Amino acid sequence: MLLEMKRALITGANRGIGLALAEALVNRGVFVFAGARKPDNASELDRLREHHRGLIEIIPLEVTSDESVRRCADTVKGVSGTLDILVNNAAVFLEETNTGLAALDLDWFAETVAVNVGGVARVTRALLPLLGAAEQPCIVNISSGAGSIGDKTDHHYYCYGASKAALNHFTVGLAHELRPGGIVVVALSPGWVRTDMGGPGGELTPEESASAIADTILKLEPADSGCFLDRLGRKGKYVW
Ligand SMILES: NC(=O)c1ccc[n+]([C@@H]2O[C@H](COP(=O)([O-])OP(=O)(O)OC[C@H]3O[C@@H](n4cnc5c(N)ncnc54)[C@H](OP(=O)(O)O)[C@@H]3O)[C@@H](O)[C@H]2O)c1
Repeated sequence: MLLEMKRALITGANRGIGLALAEALVNRGVFVFAGARKPDNASELDRLREHHRGLIEIIPLEVTSDESVRRCADTVKGVSGTLDILVNNAAVFLEETNTGLAALDLDWFAETVAVNVGGVARVTRALLPLLGAAEQPCIVNISSGAGSIGDKTDHHYYCYGASKAALNHFTVGLAHELRPGGIVVVALSPGWVRTDMGGPGGELTPEESASAIADTILKLEPADSGCFLDRLGRKGKYVW
């Protein structure tokens, strides 16, 4: 059965949008490799796997670790040989308040960029050979409106915003590099979602956001590569 299915790897799939996206993709007939940095502590993901037996494989994945990422790629290779969809979803948001410059912990820059940009680059590089072996592969970098420079009107979230702006830059560069090989690369904002990161005031449930994202992923085409999409796949809703 796996041979006939599309296969996706989602980083940070143990909670929040990543967990909901795992379910949304499985419900659309996609086999999901679900990355979790602490799989022993991923009870909701365990329940999802039990519910969809044989359709979800949980893989230990710490995106800042070369060793962990290499093992993850080896596991995907061993199970399926190719990968159709890579969703770089894992991220950190260390500024819980709208910290101004004076109170900012400058170490947050390094830590945030290491996960939100370096982690994406590390995972993507390790999975590229498997993506290159798929028929219509795509890489979806989960970005944020907070990464937009054109829409920036406040002083909030220096580290997180800078990391997502850098991720957007990386996305466009990668889209150029991988276009000749037919790999579509997009930045996609999920909207404001009620997760640990988004908080209780978010406009969307993780399921609402993930359902739209899953539909968008399955409709991606070459003309989308290098674009900044919203969850519904619309271009121009977010400016760079
Ligand atoms: N929620 C929103 O409103 C919103 C808005 C715009 C964009 N986004 C983006 O959407 C994506 C998902 O956000 P979310 O709201 O679902 O966040 P979340 O609930 O905080 O979940 C973050 C996920 O990333 C994982 N993660 C963090 N650091 C990691 C690392 N070093 N290695 C591997 N996994 C790591 C976490 O794992 P642990 O459980 O082990 O910590 C968790 O699974 C992120 O890229 C975020 O920037 C969210």
